[in-house]
Amino acid sequence: MTQRSDVAAGAPSGDRDATADAAPPTAAPAPPSTPPSADEIRRIGLSSALREVTAPLHRQAEKAGAISDIVRGRSSRAAYALLLRNLHAVYEAIERGLDRHRDSPAVRHIVRDEVFRAGAIALDLENLCGGTAAAAAVPLLPEGRAYAAAVAEAAAGDGVGLIGHAYTRYLGDLSGGQTVSQVLARTLGLDAGMRNIYRFAGIGDLDAYKNGYRAAIDRAAFETERPDTILAEAMRAFRLNIALFWAVQAAADGTATRAGAPVPVA
Ligand code: HEM
Repeated sequence: MTQRSDVAAGAPSGDRDATADAAPPTAAPAPPSTPPSADEIRRIGLSSALREVTAPLHRQAEKAGAISDIVRGRSSRAAYALLLRNLHAVYEAIERGLDRHRDSPAVRHIVRDEVFRAGAIALDLENLCGGTAAAAAVPLLPEGRAYAAAVAEAAAGDGVGLIGHAYTRYLGDLSGGQTVSQVLARTLGLDAGMRNIYRFAGIGDLDAYKNGYRAAIDRAAFETERPDTILAEAMRAFRLNIALFWAVQAAADGTATRAGAPVPVA
C-alpha cells in the first residue's frame, strides 16, 4: 500500500476510456499482492485505500455490458429499465442494512438518508415503464438477486461490509452517475422524472458532499477491528456490478430494441 499521493494517482478520473470495445472478462483482475493491515488502512485513510484497490475494477465496470452501451449511446429504454429494476433490489438491501445499523459503531458514520436511492429508482422505473404494473413486470435477474443477497450477507453481524457496498454505489452515483444521467437524457430522451436516481435534491455541492462522505468512511475505519473486510466487500461489490451489467446487456439484447425505437418494457 502506498502513501496518500500514490493512492490518489490510481483514482478514477474523467479521462479514462469509457468507450472502448469490451466483452465479458474471462478472468477477474489480480487482487493487490499484499492486503494492507488495519493500521495501514487507517493511516492511509480507508477512503483512499478503497479508491486504490477498486481502481482496476472501476475501469472494468465502465466498459461492462449495459453501462458501456449507455455511455456509447447504444442502450434502449427497455435495457435501462431492466438495469434499474435490478439495482432497485440492490439498493433496497443496502438501505435496509444501513437503516438497521444506524447506531452501529462503524456503519453509523455513513448512514445518510439523503443519498438513499431505492425510492428514487422506484419512481424512475414507474415513469419509464408507464405505470406500476408495467414496472413490476420487469424481471429480477439471477445476477440482481445474487447481488442483493450478497449485500444482505454483508449486513449481518456488525454490518461493516455494508460500508464497501455503500461506497461503491453512492460515490458512483454522485460521480460518474452524473455523466450517465446526461447521456441518458441525450440518447434516450429520458426526462428528469426518469432520472431521479442521479438527482440529489438535498445536496448542493456534490464534490464537497463526496469529500464529507470520504471523511466519514475514514472515521469508520477507527471503529472496527476489520477495515480490511470493507476493502474486500467493495471489490466484491464492483464484481457484482460488472456481472449485473453484462447480464442486463445479454437479457436486453434478447428481448429489446436499441435506442430510438419505441419502448415497451413489460
Ligand atoms: C459510465 C461509467 C462511469 C464513468 C464515466 C465514471 C466516472 C467516474 C469519475 C470521473 C469518478 C471520479 C470522481 C471524483 O473523483 O470526484 C468516479 C468515481 C467513482 N466511481 Fe465511477 N464512473 C462510471 C461508472 C461507475 C460504476 C458503474 C461504478 C460502480 C458500480 C462507479 C463507482 C465509482 C466510485 C465508487 C467512485 C469514487 C471513487 C473515489 O473517489 O473513491 N463508477 N467515477
